[in-house]
This record gives sequence, structure tokens and C-alpha cells, in this order.
Amino acid sequence: MAIEIKKIGVFTSGGDSPGMNAAIRSVVRTCAYHHIDCVGIFRGYQGMIEGDFKPMDARSVNNIINKGGTILKSARCDDFRTKEGRKQAYEQLKAEGIDAFVVIGGDGSFTGAMIFDQEYDFPFMGIPGTIDNDIFGTTFTLGFDTALNTVVEAIDKIRDTASSHNRLFFVEVMGRDVGHIALNAGVGAGAEEILIPEENRGLDHLLESLKRSKLSGKSSSIVIVAEGDKSGKNVFELKEYVEEHLPIYDVRVSVLGHMQRGGPPSCYDRVLASRMGVKAVETLLEGKKRLMVGVQDNKLILTPISKAIKGHTKMEKELIRVFEIMKT
Ligand code: F6P
Repeated sequence: MAIEIKKIGVFTSGGDSPGMNAAIRSVVRTCAYHHIDCVGIFRGYQGMIEGDFKPMDARSVNNIINKGGTILKSARCDDFRTKEGRKQAYEQLKAEGIDAFVVIGGDGSFTGAMIFDQEYDFPFMGIPGTIDNDIFGTTFTLGFDTALNTVVEAIDKIRDTASSHNRLFFVEVMGRDVGHIALNAGVGAGAEEILIPEENRGLDHLLESLKRSKLSGKSSSIVIVAEGDKSGKNVFELKEYVEEHLPIYDVRVSVLGHMQRGGPPSCYDRVLASRMGVKAVETLLEGKKRLMVGVQDNKLILTPISKAIKGHTKMEKELIRVFEIMKT
């Protein structure tokens, strides 16, 4: 029988992403709307283990919808991987009277919640928060849209200087396992080539493509490289390789790094976060659990966490084709 939920905990976990604050605000305010107590859990699972809790009411989340990062802080927690750590976390949640939680994070954070639920039968809901957009069961994760805008803005600036000096730039973007940022930013910023983990076409293909681009009369070139690219060379090694094999190019490297994870969330991410927070809390109140809220065709959908963790996102073939045509 489903337990009556009177108090919900909320936390952010793993790498932060823009829109996490908007999601926290939504969870807190939905609880207030339904007269349910809400508790903020600081520093993800680490704070859960240490009992780093703070009651939150509707006013405690004023003016955070527009803020990047996460007011609850985030962490990747090794202690929660141990049975002892999870036992401590359970005891802290019980002592605080928390009946269920909403975890905002990526697949690592969801895996932790699932193991915890298997051991302690503890109701929870997941909201996908990561700039990488690598969670199965949602077309968009929180922060992806904002990160794309950040990346495109940065590449527009790189293009200005690349064009002035007739240079080629390798720009490394985030995406440990997937190339969604690289592909979408590649189309959005008009890159000449992209290197993504899902489609390793080899270094000969890169040289051919760059040669063709130069011969076609382009004055500058941008190659976007996803962090997880499988060419076997990092951006600095790629620079050396191209300089050696195509001396016509003057090459520079720019690693965008963590600036991609910061900044005010886009309107899209704020709206999505607000919708997902409401859905997560109301689904728990309906007695359901162990689900992730996602969005598909602009409708919210629910996916079992076990599927969200195991499934893989697909590279958009149609977008790859658009990219191939646009780079002509
Ligand atoms: O998972 C999101 C992400 O931004 C990845 O793209 C990146 O590889 C990783 O986090 C970086 O993690 P950290 O902040 O721990 O260095």
C-alpha cells in the first residue's frame, strides 16, 4: 500500500546544469501548493548522509529561477556507493521525517537512487538535469538548451578572430559520452566539421574535409570536438596532426570547459524545469515512484528509472545530414 506523503526532500546531484534552480523552485512551490512539507538536501547524497537538511517554503526560493548553478550545491558522492553510506542516509531521512525525494541529476544520480530504493523501498522521482542531453526517456535534459546557446555564442566570437586571421580552430565542447552539444552547436554555429563519439569517421576523413573546405574558398574553419570523441587524439594532438599533414592551415585550439555549465538558464530550460518539478511532486502524491519525468513532443512523459539509466540516446541522423549539407 502506498504511504501517505507528508514531507518531500529535494536535491541536486552530479554535474550541475542551468535550470536546476528553476527545478528546485518548482518542487518547493508545488509542495507548498499541496500543503506538503519540503526539505532541501544540500550537496546531494553527501548531504543526505550527513543530514545537511533545511526546510524550504515558497519564499525560500524567491529570485532563483534566473540563476545558474544550484543553491542546494551538488556533489559526486563516493560514500553513497557503499552499503554503510546508504544506511546512514536512510537513518538521516527517517530522523527528519522525509517520506520521499526528488533527485535532479544525471544517470549516475538516478542509479544511486534506484539502489537505495531497492534496499529501503524509498519513494523517489527523477528530473533529468545535465547539459549533455544523454538521458534516455526525454528529448531534452535541463541545461542542454542553455549550454548550446553558451557554446554557440562562444563559437561566434571565435569565428570573428578565426576569420580575421584565416585560421582553423579546434573547439572542444563537453559531452563525455555523447555528441549532442557538438552536433547541435555545429549546425547552429556553422562549423566546418564535427567530431562526435557516435560517428568516428577517422582522421583521413577530417583531412579530406578540411582540404575541400579550403579549396572551396572558405577563409576560416571551425572543427567542434566533443570531449568523448573517439578519433584517438585530443584537441591539441589534432592541431599538431593537421599542421603536419595540411600545412596550409594555421591552427589554434580553444577548450570551452566549465563555462558551458554556468550562466542564467534559457527561457526554455526555465519553463521545462517548472513543468518537470510540478509533475515530479504530483506523481509522488499519486502514489507512483521510481520514475523519471521527461519531455517528448512537448508533452511530459514518465519513464521507469531503470529504463532511463540503461537506455541510450540516439544521434539525430536527420540533423547529421543537415550538417553535412550545410558545411558544403
Ligand atoms: O556530465 C556533465 C559534464 O559536464 C560532462 O560533459 C563533463 O565531462 C563532466 O560533466 C565534467 O565533470 P566535472 O565537473 O566533475 O569535471
